[in-house]
Amino acid sequence: MNEPRLIAHSLPSSHLLWGNLKPFMADILGYLESTANFGPFIQFRLFNTRVYLVSDPELVNTVLTNKSQSFVRNRSFAKRLRRLFGHGLLTSEGDEWKRLRKLSAPAFQPKSTNTYIPIINDEVKKLAKDWDGCTQVDIAHEMSKITARIITRCIFGMELEVDMAEMEDTMDQLMSSLGPRLRYPIYTPDWLPVGGNVLYRKAVKRVDRFIYSGIQARLADNGEQQPSLLADLMAASGNDGDSRKSHLRDQIVTLFLAGHETTASTLTFAFILLSKHPQQFAKLCAEVRSCNLDAFDNLNAIRESLPVTYNIIREVMRLYPAGYIFGRTVINDTQLGAETLKKGSLVMVSPYVIHRNPDVFPNPEQFDPDRWLNLDVSRSQYLPFSAGARTCIGEYLAMLEACLILAGIVARFDVTCGTDPISIMPAITLRATNNTKATIAVGE
Ligand code: HEM
Repeated sequence: MNEPRLIAHSLPSSHLLWGNLKPFMADILGYLESTANFGPFIQFRLFNTRVYLVSDPELVNTVLTNKSQSFVRNRSFAKRLRRLFGHGLLTSEGDEWKRLRKLSAPAFQPKSTNTYIPIINDEVKKLAKDWDGCTQVDIAHEMSKITARIITRCIFGMELEVDMAEMEDTMDQLMSSLGPRLRYPIYTPDWLPVGGNVLYRKAVKRVDRFIYSGIQARLADNGEQQPSLLADLMAASGNDGDSRKSHLRDQIVTLFLAGHETTASTLTFAFILLSKHPQQFAKLCAEVRSCNLDAFDNLNAIRESLPVTYNIIREVMRLYPAGYIFGRTVINDTQLGAETLKKGSLVMVSPYVIHRNPDVFPNPEQFDPDRWLNLDVSRSQYLPFSAGARTCIGEYLAMLEACLILAGIVARFDVTCGTDPISIMPAITLRATNNTKATIAVGE
């Protein structure tokens, strides 16, 4: 692909000192969407940082793939989340990241990931049992519960005695403190008792307790060892002792958090959108209620045999990508399009904006899973899992989970959520804040 010599359209600052910080902070998605009217390459200022919003596919490809060594994951993101993620895959850079990615990659190969399919199916059955006799559930809560249970079992290879209510409370604490923490222009050190810092520190301590008790339980378990991400990571990493424990802790916290809320958010939006589109729900029922869902042993088979399910998930992730924005810091003056981006500037890529390009997705606001029947899009035009070297390591697992959970629930239940206009909270992931109360009934 030839990179076009695009000029970045400059948005006027709304404040002499703060630049466009106020409208950006007040409504990040609305702000990003409104900038799309000015073209696929935009620049503006947030306080003292020059920001480029890149949506042109060739430029996106340059940032994420071709010149990715000049664009490192947003440094302020890593700094603000250090206490939570430590030196895990999400927040490391350079040689440290390369080593970790290489070490973790085998555990996420399709062949290894397929071994988790029975866990996913088993947890769907448990959820169905919990729902037995229920008529009302909070679907966001239920999706968070099932994805947390699945990722816990995939990580530790065993069921932990987890107080799910406490875990959910911790997640809520984290989610409420992380959004403002990431967007606030001035970094406040974690120890300062201001803003969400106190809440954040408490939540991290609770996450730590859970992760360390999981590692301990797994190390002490003498029973038959099930395959697990932890076992793979332990086999791949060397030395013993406390440094090993804290290193494992960082990897596991990263996998637990990156792999749980994202999938839960996707599934929640799926049920909400299907309630607004009963004909799609009926199509899905026809597909999954005549199928033996326990028979699948890989994602390709699911894609071929359950095209309606697969396309619904793709369409949900188009409209409501859990990772709605990600950033890269420019580490040396770099040419992008017709612009020279100065070291220290920030490049933002927003799947939420890119997925609404009417030239690629006609009638983009419309939930239309059937559009995927004849759609040929590149990895820079549709990127719910990002692209390039830092692409989501859990993509395959996420697709397996999302398809099997959606199919497994709809095979057993009619689920109807509220149909008000969807309201969303852009925290670290995108979350639905209404329509999550669902009526459930055993399906026919
Ligand atoms: C629907 C579900 C998911 C979505 C939408 C999603 C999305 C993403 C995105 C957009 C990124 C890259 C951000 C960037 O380029 O800066 C990412 C990275 C990552 N994801 Fe996912 N993810 C999902 C599920 C998972 C799962 C199930 C796991 C693991 C269990 C996982 C683990 C990770 C990790 C470790 C990274 C960092 C990779 C690196 O920097 O090398 N994700 N994810």
